[in-house]
Amino acid sequence: MPETATLPLPVARSVADLRRTVQAWRAAGLRIGFVPTMGALHAGHLSLVEMAGARADRVVVSIFVNPTQFGPNEDFTKYPRQESSDAARLAAFGVDLLYAPQVEEMYPAGASTVVSVGKVTDRLEGVYRPGHFDGVATVVAKLLNQVQPHVAVFGEKDYQQLLVVRRLVADLDIDTDIVPGPTVREADGLAMSSRNAYLSDDDRAVAASLPSVLNFVATQLRTGAEAGPLLEAGRNRLLKAGFAEVQYLDLADATTLAPIEKADRPARLLVAARLGNTRLIDNVAV
Ligand code: PAF
Repeated sequence: MPETATLPLPVARSVADLRRTVQAWRAAGLRIGFVPTMGALHAGHLSLVEMAGARADRVVVSIFVNPTQFGPNEDFTKYPRQESSDAARLAAFGVDLLYAPQVEEMYPAGASTVVSVGKVTDRLEGVYRPGHFDGVATVVAKLLNQVQPHVAVFGEKDYQQLLVVRRLVADLDIDTDIVPGPTVREADGLAMSSRNAYLSDDDRAVAASLPSVLNFVATQLRTGAEAGPLLEAGRNRLLKAGFAEVQYLDLADATTLAPIEKADRPARLLVAARLGNTRLIDNVAV
């Protein structure tokens, strides 16, 4: 059990403790903002926290490395866990409550309900990470039900996840506004991600080609060019730069994620590629 006494902001470890605090805020007429995270916080997360703070009177951030959204061969056990430094950053950003439950609190013995969002999960991450979005949808439904925020901020870095959450909230009549937070990038364009910490120095240098290829392809697509040859050229550039595998580089309708041939409507260019054992994803609006 992690130490709570030493953390520099109030912490709830149980649903009951969380509810006591948020229900008192609601009773006082305060607006609640929420940012769900898996910890290992970086400037991208903190920008979401700032967005929540600008839209609410009180901000709750959760840190929970959710086992149900990791596949059997994925990085659940090695996912970085650094609660005290995360808590210090959240306190410095004026977060009012950290919600950091243990796995047993979120999934007590006997828990057997799974939330599964259809259609928008069929492609892209849904293909390469089977079961991932069931885990995400289940934990997000639980977190939104536990925190009952007026507004919750989700990063556009995980664009398909953002669409899954929007669908879930609409379909289950959850009374929370979902606000997208723009991707925050390193100086060379690499999207900030807790998984960037896995990259060796050599791989980190190669990783910078991901946003540059995305931007190259997106710029051409914005002129109305056919997607097929550009996507092929983009995949080849990534392999040549040193990526071991390009799982997808796709142009999709920005709302449904259906594949499209031209950016003749609001569209998104999305990529997933592997460098050694690290899988990186990114996307841009077209
Ligand atoms: O984006 C994440 O960090 C996670 O998928 C989320 C939304 C916190 C659910 O575990």
